[in-house]
Amino acid sequence: MSHLAHVDPEIAALVVAEEQLQADTLRLIPSENYVSHAVLEATGTVLQNKYSEGYPGKRYYEGQRHIDQVETLAIERAKALFAMDHANVQPYSGSPANLAVYLAFLKPGDTVMGMALPMGGHLTHGWGVSATGTWFRGVQYGVERGTGRVDLDKVRELALAERPKLIFCGGTAVPRTIDFAGFAEIAREVGAVLVADVAHIAGLIAGGAHPSPAGHADVVSTTTHKTLRGPRGAMLLSTEEHAKAIDRAVFPGLQGGPHNHTTAAIAVALKEASGEDFRVYARQVVANAQQLGEQLAARGFDLVSGGTDNHLLLIDLTGKDVPGKVAAKALDRAGIVVNYNTVPYDTRKPFDPSGIRIGTPALTSRGIPTSEMAAVAEWIDLVVGAARSGDEATIAKVRADVKALMDAYPAPGLSVR
Ligand SMILES: Cc1ncc(COP(=O)(O)O)c(C=O)c1O
Repeated sequence: MSHLAHVDPEIAALVVAEEQLQADTLRLIPSENYVSHAVLEATGTVLQNKYSEGYPGKRYYEGQRHIDQVETLAIERAKALFAMDHANVQPYSGSPANLAVYLAFLKPGDTVMGMALPMGGHLTHGWGVSATGTWFRGVQYGVERGTGRVDLDKVRELALAERPKLIFCGGTAVPRTIDFAGFAEIAREVGAVLVADVAHIAGLIAGGAHPSPAGHADVVSTTTHKTLRGPRGAMLLSTEEHAKAIDRAVFPGLQGGPHNHTTAAIAVALKEASGEDFRVYARQVVANAQQLGEQLAARGFDLVSGGTDNHLLLIDLTGKDVPGKVAAKALDRAGIVVNYNTVPYDTRKPFDPSGIRIGTPALTSRGIPTSEMAAVAEWIDLVVGAARSGDEATIAKVRADVKALMDAYPAPGLSVR
Protein backbone atom coordinates (compact mmCIF):
# COMPACT_ATOMS: atom_id res chain seq x y z
CA MET A 1 0.00 0.00 0.00
CA SER A 2 2.93 2.36 -0.58
CA HIS A 3 0.93 4.63 -2.90
CA LEU A 4 -1.96 4.91 -0.46
CA ALA A 5 0.38 5.58 2.44
CA HIS A 6 2.02 8.36 0.43
CA VAL A 7 -1.16 10.03 -0.84
CA ASP A 8 -3.39 9.59 2.18
CA PRO A 9 -1.55 8.46 5.30
CA GLU A 10 -4.67 8.88 7.45
CA ILE A 11 -6.72 6.39 5.44
CA ALA A 12 -3.71 4.09 5.04
CA ALA A 13 -3.21 4.00 8.81
CA LEU A 14 -6.87 3.14 9.35
CA VAL A 15 -6.71 0.30 6.82
CA VAL A 16 -3.59 -1.08 8.52
CA ALA A 17 -5.26 -0.81 11.93
CA GLU A 18 -8.37 -2.61 10.65
CA GLU A 19 -6.23 -5.38 9.18
CA GLN A 20 -4.52 -5.86 12.54
CA LEU A 21 -7.90 -5.91 14.29
CA GLN A 22 -9.14 -8.60 11.91
CA ALA A 23 -5.97 -10.59 12.58
CA ASP A 24 -6.19 -10.31 16.36
CA THR A 25 -9.90 -10.90 16.99
CA LEU A 26 -12.21 -13.89 16.94
CA ARG A 27 -14.74 -12.71 14.39
CA LEU A 28 -18.05 -14.46 15.01
CA ILE A 29 -20.42 -12.25 13.00
CA PRO A 30 -22.08 -14.88 10.79
CA SER A 31 -22.31 -12.61 7.73
CA GLU A 32 -18.58 -11.87 7.74
CA ASN A 33 -15.57 -13.77 6.46
CA TYR A 34 -12.00 -13.43 5.25
CA VAL A 35 -11.59 -13.34 1.47
CA SER A 36 -8.51 -14.76 -0.21
CA HIS A 37 -5.60 -12.68 -1.50
CA ALA A 38 -6.84 -13.53 -5.02
CA VAL A 39 -10.30 -12.05 -4.36
CA LEU A 40 -8.73 -8.96 -2.77
CA GLU A 41 -6.40 -8.49 -5.74
CA ALA A 42 -9.27 -8.74 -8.25
CA THR A 43 -11.23 -6.19 -6.23
CA GLY A 44 -8.38 -3.70 -6.39
CA THR A 45 -7.87 -3.74 -10.17
CA VAL A 46 -8.19 -1.22 -12.99
CA LEU A 47 -11.42 -2.91 -14.03
CA GLN A 48 -12.98 -0.35 -11.72
CA ASN A 49 -12.05 2.37 -14.25
CA LYS A 50 -14.45 1.05 -16.88
CA TYR A 51 -18.09 1.91 -17.51
CA SER A 52 -20.14 -0.89 -19.09
CA GLU A 53 -23.88 -0.32 -18.82
CA GLY A 54 -25.70 -3.25 -20.37
CA TYR A 55 -24.76 -6.91 -20.56
CA PRO A 56 -22.01 -8.86 -22.37
CA GLY A 57 -22.39 -8.30 -26.12
CA LYS A 58 -25.06 -5.60 -25.56
CA ARG A 59 -23.34 -2.60 -24.03
CA TYR A 60 -23.99 1.11 -24.26
CA TYR A 61 -20.27 1.93 -24.09
CA GLU A 62 -17.40 0.82 -26.32
CA GLY A 63 -14.13 -0.84 -25.30
CA GLN A 64 -15.72 -3.86 -23.63
CA ARG A 65 -13.60 -6.69 -25.10
CA HIS A 66 -12.13 -7.67 -21.74
CA ILE A 67 -15.01 -6.65 -19.49
CA ASP A 68 -17.43 -8.81 -21.49
CA GLN A 69 -15.21 -11.83 -20.94
CA VAL A 70 -14.91 -11.13 -17.22
CA GLU A 71 -18.67 -10.85 -16.78
CA THR A 72 -19.34 -13.91 -18.95
CA LEU A 73 -16.93 -15.97 -16.84
CA ALA A 74 -18.70 -14.85 -13.66
CA ILE A 75 -22.12 -15.65 -15.15
CA GLU A 76 -21.13 -19.10 -16.41
CA ARG A 77 -19.46 -20.02 -13.12
CA ALA A 78 -22.48 -18.87 -11.12
CA LYS A 79 -24.88 -20.88 -13.29
CA ALA A 80 -22.75 -24.00 -13.00
CA LEU A 81 -22.13 -23.74 -9.26
CA PHE A 82 -25.77 -23.11 -8.33
CA ALA A 83 -27.33 -25.22 -11.11
CA MET A 84 -29.61 -22.40 -12.28
CA ASP A 85 -30.48 -21.47 -15.90
CA HIS A 86 -29.62 -17.81 -15.60
CA ALA A 87 -27.34 -15.55 -13.55
CA ASN A 88 -27.11 -11.79 -13.21
CA VAL A 89 -23.92 -10.80 -11.39
CA GLN A 90 -24.42 -7.04 -11.45
CA PRO A 91 -26.46 -6.19 -8.29
CA TYR A 92 -24.38 -3.86 -6.13
CA SER A 93 -25.30 -5.72 -2.94
CA GLY A 94 -28.00 -7.91 -1.41
CA SER A 95 -30.54 -5.16 -0.73
CA PRO A 96 -30.53 -3.75 -4.29
CA ALA A 97 -30.66 -7.33 -5.60
CA ASN A 98 -33.86 -7.90 -3.66
CA LEU A 99 -35.29 -4.56 -4.74
CA ALA A 100 -34.68 -5.59 -8.35
CA VAL A 101 -36.79 -8.69 -7.72
CA TYR A 102 -39.70 -6.51 -6.61
CA LEU A 103 -39.28 -4.38 -9.71
CA ALA A 104 -39.27 -7.51 -11.89
CA PHE A 105 -42.51 -8.99 -10.54
CA LEU A 106 -44.60 -6.48 -8.56
CA LYS A 107 -46.35 -3.14 -8.91
CA PRO A 108 -46.41 -0.75 -5.94
CA GLY A 109 -49.05 -1.89 -3.44
CA ASP A 110 -48.82 -5.57 -4.44
CA THR A 111 -48.43 -8.13 -1.68
CA VAL A 112 -45.12 -9.74 -0.73
CA MET A 113 -44.72 -12.39 1.94
CA GLY A 114 -41.52 -12.90 3.91
CA MET A 115 -40.22 -13.81 7.33
CA ALA A 116 -40.62 -11.02 9.88
CA LEU A 117 -37.39 -9.21 10.75
CA PRO A 118 -37.55 -10.00 14.50
CA MET A 119 -38.13 -13.67 13.63
CA GLY A 120 -34.93 -13.87 11.55
CA GLY A 121 -36.04 -12.45 8.19
CA HIS A 122 -34.32 -9.60 6.35
CA LEU A 123 -35.48 -5.99 6.13
CA THR A 124 -35.90 -6.35 2.37
CA HIS A 125 -38.46 -9.15 2.71
CA GLY A 126 -41.29 -6.63 3.12
CA TRP A 127 -40.53 -5.30 6.61
CA GLY A 128 -42.20 -1.97 7.38
CA VAL A 129 -39.21 0.36 7.76
CA SER A 130 -37.71 -0.83 4.45
CA ALA A 131 -38.74 0.54 1.06
CA THR A 132 -40.00 -2.99 0.39
CA GLY A 133 -42.54 -2.72 3.21
CA THR A 134 -43.42 0.89 2.36
CA TRP A 135 -44.06 0.60 -1.37
CA PHE A 136 -45.45 -2.93 -1.18
CA ARG A 137 -47.85 -4.65 1.20
CA GLY A 138 -45.74 -6.90 3.39
CA VAL A 139 -47.29 -9.88 5.16
CA GLN A 140 -45.00 -11.73 7.46
CA TYR A 141 -44.60 -15.23 8.80
CA GLY A 142 -42.49 -16.19 11.80
CA VAL A 143 -41.20 -19.12 13.79
CA GLU A 144 -43.08 -21.04 16.46
CA ARG A 145 -42.64 -19.93 20.06
CA GLY A 146 -41.81 -23.39 21.36
CA THR A 147 -39.59 -24.75 18.60
CA GLY A 148 -38.07 -21.63 17.03
CA ARG A 149 -38.85 -23.20 13.65
CA VAL A 150 -41.11 -22.23 10.73
CA ASP A 151 -44.41 -24.11 10.63
CA LEU A 152 -45.08 -24.51 6.90
CA ASP A 153 -48.78 -25.26 7.49
CA LYS A 154 -49.12 -21.78 8.98
CA VAL A 155 -47.15 -20.24 6.12
CA ARG A 156 -49.54 -21.96 3.71
CA GLU A 157 -52.60 -20.69 5.59
CA LEU A 158 -51.24 -17.14 5.50
CA ALA A 159 -50.39 -17.42 1.80
CA LEU A 160 -53.88 -18.70 0.98
CA ALA A 161 -55.46 -15.86 2.95
CA GLU A 162 -53.22 -13.05 1.65
CA ARG A 163 -52.40 -14.27 -1.88
CA PRO A 164 -48.90 -12.73 -2.18
CA LYS A 165 -47.43 -12.35 -5.66
CA LEU A 166 -43.93 -12.87 -4.26
CA ILE A 167 -42.78 -15.13 -1.44
CA PHE A 168 -39.34 -14.86 0.16
CA CYS A 169 -37.82 -17.75 2.03
CA GLY A 170 -34.51 -17.52 3.84
CA GLY A 171 -33.29 -14.89 6.23
CA THR A 172 -30.56 -13.30 8.21
CA ALA A 173 -30.86 -15.06 11.59
CA VAL A 174 -32.21 -18.47 10.62
CA PRO A 175 -30.24 -21.33 12.21
CA ARG A 176 -32.21 -24.12 10.54
CA THR A 177 -32.35 -25.71 7.08
CA ILE A 178 -34.70 -23.94 4.70
CA ASP A 179 -37.31 -26.24 3.19
CA PHE A 180 -37.17 -24.94 -0.37
CA ALA A 181 -39.42 -27.73 -1.69
CA GLY A 182 -42.06 -26.95 0.96
CA PHE A 183 -42.04 -23.24 0.14
CA ALA A 184 -42.17 -24.01 -3.59
CA GLU A 185 -45.32 -26.07 -3.12
CA ILE A 186 -46.99 -23.16 -1.31
CA ALA A 187 -45.86 -20.65 -3.96
CA ARG A 188 -47.25 -22.87 -6.72
CA GLU A 189 -50.56 -23.25 -4.89
CA VAL A 190 -51.07 -19.48 -4.64
CA GLY A 191 -49.45 -18.59 -7.98
CA ALA A 192 -46.58 -16.65 -6.38
CA VAL A 193 -42.99 -16.30 -7.52
CA LEU A 194 -40.69 -17.96 -4.97
CA VAL A 195 -37.46 -16.15 -4.12
CA ALA A 196 -34.89 -18.06 -2.09
CA ASP A 197 -32.72 -15.44 -0.40
CA VAL A 198 -29.67 -17.54 0.36
CA ALA A 199 -27.35 -14.62 1.18
CA HIS A 200 -26.22 -16.26 4.41
CA ILE A 201 -25.94 -19.84 3.22
CA ALA A 202 -24.75 -19.47 -0.40
CA GLY A 203 -21.33 -20.87 0.49
CA LEU A 204 -22.89 -23.82 2.28
CA ILE A 205 -25.05 -24.54 -0.78
CA ALA A 206 -22.07 -24.21 -3.12
CA GLY A 207 -20.08 -26.55 -0.88
CA GLY A 208 -22.89 -29.11 -0.55
CA ALA A 209 -23.50 -28.44 3.16
CA HIS A 210 -27.07 -27.14 2.73
CA PRO A 211 -29.72 -28.35 0.24
CA SER A 212 -29.92 -26.35 -2.98
CA PRO A 213 -32.89 -24.18 -3.98
CA ALA A 214 -32.33 -25.21 -7.64
CA GLY A 215 -35.39 -26.94 -9.01
CA HIS A 216 -37.59 -25.29 -6.35
CA ALA A 217 -37.11 -21.51 -6.36
CA ASP A 218 -37.96 -19.32 -9.36
CA VAL A 219 -35.34 -16.80 -8.29
CA VAL A 220 -32.30 -17.18 -6.04
CA SER A 221 -30.94 -14.00 -4.50
CA THR A 222 -27.60 -13.97 -2.76
CA THR A 223 -24.87 -11.71 -1.55
CA THR A 224 -21.40 -12.84 -2.48
CA HIS A 225 -19.53 -11.77 0.65
CA LYS A 226 -20.77 -14.02 3.44
CA THR A 227 -20.24 -17.80 3.50
CA LEU A 228 -19.47 -17.64 -0.25
CA ARG A 229 -16.27 -15.77 0.68
CA GLY A 230 -16.30 -13.33 -2.23
CA PRO A 231 -16.25 -9.55 -2.56
CA ARG A 232 -19.10 -7.33 -1.36
CA GLY A 233 -21.69 -7.81 -4.08
CA ALA A 234 -24.68 -9.89 -5.04
CA MET A 235 -26.17 -12.12 -7.70
CA LEU A 236 -29.65 -12.98 -8.89
CA LEU A 237 -30.09 -16.44 -10.39
CA SER A 238 -33.30 -17.63 -11.99
CA THR A 239 -35.04 -20.09 -14.21
CA GLU A 240 -35.00 -19.33 -17.95
CA GLU A 241 -38.62 -18.17 -17.69
CA HIS A 242 -37.68 -15.19 -15.51
CA ALA A 243 -34.26 -14.37 -16.99
CA LYS A 244 -35.38 -11.36 -19.04
CA ALA A 245 -37.46 -9.86 -16.24
CA ILE A 246 -34.54 -10.11 -13.82
CA ASP A 247 -32.02 -8.61 -16.24
CA ARG A 248 -34.33 -5.73 -17.15
CA ALA A 249 -35.01 -5.00 -13.50
CA VAL A 250 -31.31 -4.82 -12.57
CA PHE A 251 -30.41 -2.72 -15.62
CA PRO A 252 -31.92 -0.38 -16.71
CA GLY A 253 -34.59 -0.76 -14.03
CA LEU A 254 -32.58 -0.09 -10.91
CA GLN A 255 -28.88 0.33 -11.58
CA GLY A 256 -26.45 1.98 -13.97
CA GLY A 257 -22.95 0.67 -14.68
CA PRO A 258 -21.88 -2.58 -13.07
CA HIS A 259 -18.87 -2.61 -10.75
CA ASN A 260 -16.52 -4.55 -12.99
CA HIS A 261 -13.78 -5.01 -10.39
CA THR A 262 -16.39 -6.63 -8.14
CA THR A 263 -17.61 -8.80 -11.02
CA ALA A 264 -14.05 -10.06 -11.52
CA ALA A 265 -13.69 -10.82 -7.82
CA ILE A 266 -17.05 -12.64 -7.84
CA ALA A 267 -15.74 -14.78 -10.72
CA VAL A 268 -12.62 -15.59 -8.68
CA ALA A 269 -14.66 -16.45 -5.57
CA LEU A 270 -16.93 -18.71 -7.63
CA LYS A 271 -13.88 -20.51 -9.02
CA GLU A 272 -12.57 -20.99 -5.47
CA ALA A 273 -15.99 -22.16 -4.28
CA SER A 274 -16.19 -24.84 -6.96
CA GLY A 275 -13.12 -26.67 -5.67
CA GLU A 276 -12.91 -29.63 -3.32
CA ASP A 277 -11.25 -27.48 -0.62
CA PHE A 278 -14.34 -25.34 -0.44
CA ARG A 279 -16.58 -28.37 0.04
CA VAL A 280 -14.40 -29.33 3.01
CA TYR A 281 -14.64 -25.73 4.26
CA ALA A 282 -18.45 -25.63 4.01
CA ARG A 283 -18.85 -28.87 5.95
CA GLN A 284 -16.38 -27.65 8.56
CA VAL A 285 -18.29 -24.37 9.03
CA VAL A 286 -21.37 -26.41 9.97
CA ALA A 287 -19.44 -28.87 12.15
CA ASN A 288 -17.87 -25.97 14.06
CA ALA A 289 -21.22 -24.20 14.53
CA GLN A 290 -22.88 -27.39 15.77
CA GLN A 291 -20.08 -28.14 18.20
CA LEU A 292 -20.04 -24.54 19.44
CA GLY A 293 -23.80 -24.80 19.94
CA GLU A 294 -23.45 -27.98 21.97
CA GLN A 295 -20.72 -26.45 24.11
CA LEU A 296 -22.78 -23.32 24.75
CA ALA A 297 -25.92 -25.33 25.57
CA ALA A 298 -23.87 -27.36 28.05
CA ARG A 299 -23.03 -24.05 29.75
CA GLY A 300 -26.69 -23.13 30.09
CA PHE A 301 -27.07 -20.91 27.01
CA ASP A 302 -30.55 -20.85 25.47
CA LEU A 303 -30.17 -21.42 21.71
CA VAL A 304 -33.13 -20.43 19.53
CA SER A 305 -34.46 -23.68 17.99
CA GLY A 306 -32.10 -25.63 20.28
CA GLY A 307 -29.06 -25.53 17.98
CA THR A 308 -28.15 -25.13 14.34
CA ASP A 309 -28.10 -26.88 10.97
CA ASN A 310 -25.92 -24.24 9.37
CA HIS A 311 -23.29 -21.63 10.21
CA LEU A 312 -25.08 -19.55 12.84
CA LEU A 313 -26.42 -19.63 16.35
CA LEU A 314 -28.99 -17.26 17.79
CA ILE A 315 -28.69 -17.03 21.56
CA ASP A 316 -31.36 -15.72 23.92
CA LEU A 317 -29.51 -14.26 26.91
CA THR A 318 -32.63 -13.58 29.00
CA GLY A 319 -31.83 -16.51 31.29
CA LYS A 320 -28.26 -15.22 31.77
CA ASP A 321 -29.66 -11.88 32.93
CA VAL A 322 -27.50 -9.88 30.50
CA PRO A 323 -28.99 -7.86 27.62
CA GLY A 324 -27.61 -8.69 24.15
CA LYS A 325 -25.98 -5.32 23.69
CA VAL A 326 -24.16 -5.43 27.05
CA ALA A 327 -22.89 -8.93 26.22
CA ALA A 328 -21.83 -7.94 22.69
CA LYS A 329 -19.88 -4.93 23.96
CA ALA A 330 -18.14 -7.00 26.67
CA LEU A 331 -17.27 -9.68 24.10
CA ASP A 332 -15.82 -6.99 21.85
CA ARG A 333 -13.58 -5.86 24.73
CA ALA A 334 -12.46 -9.49 25.00
CA GLY A 335 -11.57 -9.64 21.29
CA ILE A 336 -14.67 -11.67 20.34
CA VAL A 337 -16.76 -9.83 17.75
CA VAL A 338 -20.48 -10.65 17.58
CA ASN A 339 -23.66 -8.66 16.96
CA TYR A 340 -26.56 -8.16 19.31
CA ASN A 341 -29.80 -9.38 17.81
CA THR A 342 -33.50 -9.68 18.50
CA VAL A 343 -34.74 -13.17 19.28
CA PRO A 344 -38.19 -14.41 18.26
CA TYR A 345 -40.91 -12.94 20.53
CA ASP A 346 -38.33 -10.57 22.03
CA THR A 347 -39.79 -8.36 24.75
CA ARG A 348 -36.92 -5.87 24.40
CA LYS A 349 -36.42 -3.23 21.69
CA PRO A 350 -34.45 -3.93 18.44
CA PHE A 351 -31.70 -1.48 19.45
CA ASP A 352 -31.39 -3.13 22.87
CA PRO A 353 -32.51 -6.73 22.31
CA SER A 354 -32.24 -9.95 24.31
CA GLY A 355 -29.91 -11.90 22.10
CA ILE A 356 -26.63 -12.21 20.27
CA ARG A 357 -26.02 -13.86 16.92
CA ILE A 358 -22.79 -15.73 16.29
CA GLY A 359 -21.41 -17.80 13.44
CA THR A 360 -18.41 -19.80 12.31
CA PRO A 361 -17.61 -18.81 8.67
CA ALA A 362 -14.66 -16.54 9.51
CA LEU A 363 -13.09 -18.68 12.21
CA THR A 364 -13.34 -21.71 9.93
CA SER A 365 -11.57 -19.77 7.16
CA ARG A 366 -8.66 -19.45 9.63
CA GLY A 367 -8.59 -23.24 9.93
CA ILE A 368 -9.65 -23.27 13.58
CA PRO A 369 -10.78 -26.86 14.24
CA THR A 370 -13.84 -28.25 16.03
CA SER A 371 -11.67 -29.20 19.00
CA GLU A 372 -11.29 -25.48 19.85
CA MET A 373 -15.05 -24.85 20.11
CA ALA A 374 -15.10 -25.79 23.80
CA ALA A 375 -12.58 -23.01 24.48
CA VAL A 376 -14.61 -20.53 22.43
CA ALA A 377 -17.80 -21.43 24.33
CA GLU A 378 -15.94 -21.15 27.63
CA TRP A 379 -14.68 -17.66 26.74
CA ILE A 380 -18.19 -16.55 25.75
CA ASP A 381 -19.52 -17.93 29.04
CA LEU A 382 -16.79 -16.21 31.08
CA VAL A 383 -17.31 -12.87 29.34
CA VAL A 384 -21.11 -12.93 29.61
CA GLY A 385 -20.70 -13.67 33.33
CA ALA A 386 -18.11 -10.90 33.63
CA ALA A 387 -20.44 -8.47 31.82
CA ARG A 388 -23.06 -9.18 34.47
CA SER A 389 -20.68 -8.67 37.39
CA GLY A 390 -18.48 -5.93 35.89
CA ASP A 391 -15.36 -8.11 36.09
CA GLU A 392 -12.98 -6.42 33.63
CA ALA A 393 -10.01 -8.53 34.77
CA THR A 394 -11.66 -11.68 33.41
CA ILE A 395 -12.42 -9.89 30.15
CA ALA A 396 -8.76 -8.88 29.83
CA LYS A 397 -7.63 -12.44 30.55
CA VAL A 398 -9.96 -13.82 27.84
CA ARG A 399 -8.64 -11.22 25.41
CA ALA A 400 -5.10 -12.56 25.89
CA ASP A 401 -6.28 -16.16 25.38
CA VAL A 402 -8.18 -15.18 22.23
CA LYS A 403 -5.10 -13.44 20.85
CA ALA A 404 -3.00 -16.57 21.45
CA LEU A 405 -5.48 -18.70 19.46
CA MET A 406 -5.59 -16.13 16.65
CA ASP A 407 -1.79 -16.11 16.49
CA ALA A 408 -1.85 -19.89 16.07
CA TYR A 409 -4.31 -19.71 13.13
CA PRO A 410 -3.40 -16.79 10.81
CA ALA A 411 -6.25 -15.49 8.69
CA PRO A 412 -6.21 -15.84 4.90
CA GLY A 413 -5.96 -12.67 2.83
CA LEU A 414 -4.17 -10.66 5.52
CA SER A 415 -0.56 -9.57 5.38
CA VAL A 416 -0.21 -9.30 9.15
CA ARG A 417 -0.52 -11.89 11.92
C1 LIG B 1 -30.79 -12.71 3.94
C2 LIG B 1 -30.19 -11.40 3.53
N1 LIG B 1 -30.62 -10.82 2.42
C3 LIG B 1 -30.13 -9.63 2.00
C4 LIG B 1 -29.13 -8.99 2.71
C5 LIG B 1 -28.67 -7.64 2.26
O1 LIG B 1 -27.39 -7.61 1.85
P1 LIG B 1 -26.55 -6.24 1.83
O2 LIG B 1 -26.20 -5.95 3.23
O3 LIG B 1 -25.40 -6.60 0.95
O4 LIG B 1 -27.43 -5.20 1.22
C6 LIG B 1 -28.63 -9.60 3.87
C7 LIG B 1 -27.56 -8.92 4.64
O5 LIG B 1 -27.27 -9.20 5.74
C8 LIG B 1 -29.19 -10.83 4.30
O6 LIG B 1 -28.77 -11.41 5.42
